[in-house]
Amino acid sequence: MCKKPLISMEIRKEQIMAAEKAKKFQQEGNQRDVAAYAQNYGAHREGISMKEVADYYTEWANSNKYDVDLGPDRYQGPKLAAESLCDLISEHRESVRILDIASGTGFLGQELWDRGFRLIDGLDPSEGMIEASRKRNVYSKLICDFMSDKMLNVQTDTYDAAAIAGGMGEGHIPCNALYEMIRIVKPGGYIVIVMREEYLEHVQDYKDKLEPLMKELEISGKWSKLSRKVVPNYSFQNNGVIFIFQKC
Ligand SMILES: C[S@@+](CC[C@H](N)C(=O)[O-])C[C@H]1O[C@@H](n2cnc3c(N)ncnc32)[C@H](O)[C@@H]1O
Repeated sequence: MCKKPLISMEIRKEQIMAAEKAKKFQQEGNQRDVAAYAQNYGAHREGISMKEVADYYTEWANSNKYDVDLGPDRYQGPKLAAESLCDLISEHRESVRILDIASGTGFLGQELWDRGFRLIDGLDPSEGMIEASRKRNVYSKLICDFMSDKMLNVQTDTYDAAAIAGGMGEGHIPCNALYEMIRIVKPGGYIVIVMREEYLEHVQDYKDKLEPLMKELEISGKWSKLSRKVVPNYSFQNNGVIFIFQKC
């Protein structure tokens, strides 16, 4: 009986902490940073549904502001994901099949193309983001869909690697999508997840669930964890975390 209020108090405390952090950033940052931070915060607001997330990003893409708001001076996710894949794959990059999950306007696709990868597909549920990414001409195929527990229209063991930069968060890619990521990657292939570190605690779908599930998948022989690295200044001066797995 007494457990319920305790849990909701805990959730509330985390939400207050996130809001306080946003306020602190607003007090310290310059006006353009503040606007970009607020825009990003809107995509991650508490209780946002998956559909609302996709629509929010479409509006953001249509305003032509995403690439400036989350440009490389504020957000390092695509670069970190591309560098991680380059560390894993040094040869014959032109024939390596990669799925950029939550491909957005194509920042990661572009980073991969610039490093010699040529077989890059993108997946994103936001039509506006998909259309923006199409203009880059770096993707072989673009799939407009959610990464979730639902089976995608993608054959099992298709990709040599799958990578996510910035696709994890409130209302974004759910915990249980890990199964589907594993399914579509070839045995021996890599899965790279780059996300804001604090979401592991602040997002209720991930708190005490995402990393335990990652571990469970390791114990059950679905993948092995190659590394977990915390990096500073991932986005808006927040730490990021880079997970790298290899499918068994
Ligand atoms: C912060 S943006 C990152 C985009 C891109 N990877 C980058 O680094 O610029 C988050 C992206 O995740 C996408 N997204 C949100 N929920 C998703 C889901 N369930 N499956 C796949 N992508 C999702 C959004 O549409 C948006 O394009």
